[in-house]
This record gives sequence, C-alpha cells and structure tokens, in this order.
Amino acid sequence: MKVLNNITILPGDGIGPEVVAQALKVLYAIGKKYNHQWKIKEALIGACAIDATGDPFPDVSLLACQEADAILLGAIGDPKYDNDPSAKVRPEQGLLRMRKSLGLYANIRPVKIYEQLIHLSVFKPEVLKDVDFVIYRELTGGIYFGEKVKEETFSSDLCLYHRFEVERITHLAFQQAMQRRKKLTLVDKANVLETSRLWRSVVAEISSQYPEVVLDFLYIDNAAMQVILNPSRFDVVLCDNLFGDILSDEASVLSGSMGLLPSASKGEKSALYEPIHGSYPQAAGKDIANPLATILSVEMMLRDFGYMDEANDIIYAVDQCIGAGFLTEDLGPTIAVKCSELGDKVAGLIV
Ligand code: IPM
Ligand code: MG
Repeated sequence: MKVLNNITILPGDGIGPEVVAQALKVLYAIGKKYNHQWKIKEALIGACAIDATGDPFPDVSLLACQEADAILLGAIGDPKYDNDPSAKVRPEQGLLRMRKSLGLYANIRPVKIYEQLIHLSVFKPEVLKDVDFVIYRELTGGIYFGEKVKEETFSSDLCLYHRFEVERITHLAFQQAMQRRKKLTLVDKANVLETSRLWRSVVAEISSQYPEVVLDFLYIDNAAMQVILNPSRFDVVLCDNLFGDILSDEASVLSGSMGLLPSASKGEKSALYEPIHGSYPQAAGKDIANPLATILSVEMMLRDFGYMDEANDIIYAVDQCIGAGFLTEDLGPTIAVKCSELGDKVAGLIV
C-alpha cells in the first residue's frame, strides 16, 4: 500500500476554495489524532489559473500534482467563459489536460442515499430504498479527446477507443464488483456506435476472469430511464466518458443534493479526489456552500490509502451532523449552518 504524505490541493474557482478549506480542517484533525504529518502544497487550476498565468493548468501545477501522493480538487468554472463560444482558453481545458497528463483514466462516483435526507429527494421513498451503486466512468478517452474539426460549415468530434483503454477500467470495475454485490452493468449504445460494440466485446471477454460477477448490458437511453425508475437494480455501472458524464449527474439527483457526493479519479500513478458538484459561482464567497462532498472526498482518499480508522472517523462525524440536522442550506434544515461552521463541526468531532 502506498503511503499518503504529500497532498496537493487545487482549490480552483467559485466555492472550490471554501469547500477545500473545510476538508483541510478535517484532514488536519485526522492528522492530529493519528499523528500523520501531511505535507500540503497548493496549486492553481481553472479560471483562477487563467487570471494569474493565462493558462488553465500551468506546468507548475502539473508538477505539483505529479509530485503528490494524492490530489484534492475543489471545482473549476466561471460564468464569464460559459456563454462565449469564441473564448480561446477555458477553465475546462485545464481540467481535461490535467486528467490526460496525469493519466487519470477511471472516474469513480459512488451514489449513496442518506436515510435522514430522503425527504429532500424528488423521488418517492420506495424508489430510493436500497439504492447504493457506483459509476465507473472512463475519463481520458472517447469523444472528449478525439480529433476535433471546426470548419466554416461543419464541425466534428471523433469518438475513438483503443482496446487497452477499455480493458484497464473494466478490470477496475470488475474488481470493485467483487467487493460489492457482484453485479456489473455496462452502459453503452451498441445498437448504433462502433465504439460501444468494442466496449461490449472487451467487457464480455474480460468477464470470464470474474465468473462470480453477473454482467448485464444496457443502452444509455434505457439506463437513463432505469436510474430513475429502478435505481436499486444497479451495483457497479461501467460507462465510456460521455455516457458516464451524463449518467453520473443524473444519478446524483437521487441523493437529494449534489453537495453530498464525492468522487475519485485514478490512473497508474496519480489519484485525485473531488466533489462531483461544480463551482457554483452564485454562492462563491458567501460561506453557504455544502462542504460535505469535499470532506467525503478526503474520506475516499484515506480509505484508498488504507487508512480505514481515519476514514471511518470521517463517516461517523458526517453522519452525526446529518443526524443532528446540522446542515447547510441546500439540505433544507430549519436553521442552516454556514459552510465554515459545518467544517468546524465535522473536524471537531474527530478527537
Ligand atoms: C465533470 C464535468 C466536466 C466533464 C466538465 C467540467 C468538463 O462535467 O467532471 O463531470 O464533462 O467531465
Ligand atoms: Mg459532468
């Protein structure tokens, strides 16, 4: 097991710096209790990096990420780039370049429901019963990274997958299924797309190495429907880059708030942890954002590095806050607490 010592933080834009600050409080509380000396380095990504250097992911940031055992990202994005199709540099380019240059090919997004917060969901409680699944989204290939063409009268985005790109994430997804309920669903569009047919054949081939795992296939349009109609049918969901992007946002609605869901992105060498929510610019600087997704991203980080007691402490502290209704405004409590108060509370429960 790799040790966790050097952690690079990329607070990013919008509410990113606020939620990362709360996660750091929690990380330091863990360090104090268990005597870990984290070495934390900070670097720029996104709109703030463009403002400071002209580049959404400058080389110094890449270096700081390469030197780290793990990376904690807040969020990126600024509305000033959103409605400007002619913008030459965009915050998102920094994120994509980071994923590609660090080889973060597997994005892992668990979807979990908190019993006490079921009333927040737009779904009926019976639909949410037993919902507990995890999405494995391929992150460095497909239509996001294929050749792009922009001409006067047409544009195109190439969707390209190599066997090895499908194989490596498929093994991770099967291994995860073995630790869980032993069910894997490949989501694709194999009735139309050649890349999806490649995914199907590679995944079917690899499944013989995991005979205990029940494999099934769903087309993306049907999967989008099943996530809403019958979400408890899923255990591990495997998708290409674009389908995983869409399905994971859809699935996050089940839990009632995007502010609760963490994620991990893994590659050969690097591992990055981040909340699945965006930079929520309307809330930036107001101290109202929900820091729990980022705090739970630290929990995922610790667990991946084998720090089980430490990770369990975070789960306990977060559960305590949710159970007591000590919540930020997105979770609809009678009296909302501030982002910083919730960070203090979670950190304070780790003693
Ligand atoms: C995500 C985001 C990004 C993506 C954007 C910001 C480029 O939606 O991490 O899911 O599409 O991958
Ligand atoms: Mg997305």
